[in-house]
Amino acid sequence: MERLQKIIAQSGYCSRRKAEELISAGKVTVNGEVVDVLGTKVTGKEEICVNGQIISKEEKKYFLFYKPKGVVTTMHDEKGRPCVADFFSEIDERVYPVGRLDYDTTGALFMTNDGDFANLMMHPSSHIDKIYEVVVDGHVSEETKKSLERGIYIEGVKTLPCRIKINGYNENVTMLMIKLQEGKNRQVKKMFEAAGHEVKRLHRMAIGPVTLKGLEPGMARRLTPHEVGVLVNLAKTKKSHPKNKNRNKSKRK
Ligand code: URA
Repeated sequence: MERLQKIIAQSGYCSRRKAEELISAGKVTVNGEVVDVLGTKVTGKEEICVNGQIISKEEKKYFLFYKPKGVVTTMHDEKGRPCVADFFSEIDERVYPVGRLDYDTTGALFMTNDGDFANLMMHPSSHIDKIYEVVVDGHVSEETKKSLERGIYIEGVKTLPCRIKINGYNENVTMLMIKLQEGKNRQVKKMFEAAGHEVKRLHRMAIGPVTLKGLEPGMARRLTPHEVGVLVNLAKTKKSHPKNKNRNKSKRK
């Protein structure tokens, strides 16, 4: 059994919050009866009408998108900049980005209409590896690398241990790869900024086992059911891993 507002939102008719408003306003019927009590549960097999329109459960869709530079990770941009939704206009159901990449960041981004999958992937406790290729200003020393790998405090919260591989130096920049098991807002940039290195280029190469192989910027492909299953299992396994028990404890400096 699921909450009525969740089933309505899953149909793609509107957001969960809007569905709650519609239920409270008496605009929703289940098998012909008005249901205006929030929290009512349904199986999803009933005939559900919103504003007189029958809704049906939406098929779940999962995509891997190669986000190009200069695209905002939103469905709409008030400033009229290109947004990720523009690349999915041919898809019947609305798919939403799972998490975000900065305007100038390129690379792997999942898009889906499955709210449970999105929440699981974004939950702070599901530590799916994210691998980034980074170019930063200046020469990153071995000492800085080790300190970032151990974890540093950003806004009072310690970052989880990560792996960094320095690929080389060029003039006054360092090229490296960083593997994170968390995805806080602007995390890579904040980590390197805290160490005195401005990020010049950022590209997400992979999320867990899913890489961009075969895709060009602006292209998307469907995730296979196997890939979705692996990602869900990884998120759930890592969630319950004993090592992760204390992972969200924050410490003030
Ligand atoms: N970390 C950042 O700083 N920016 C991104 O877009 C992704 C990760």
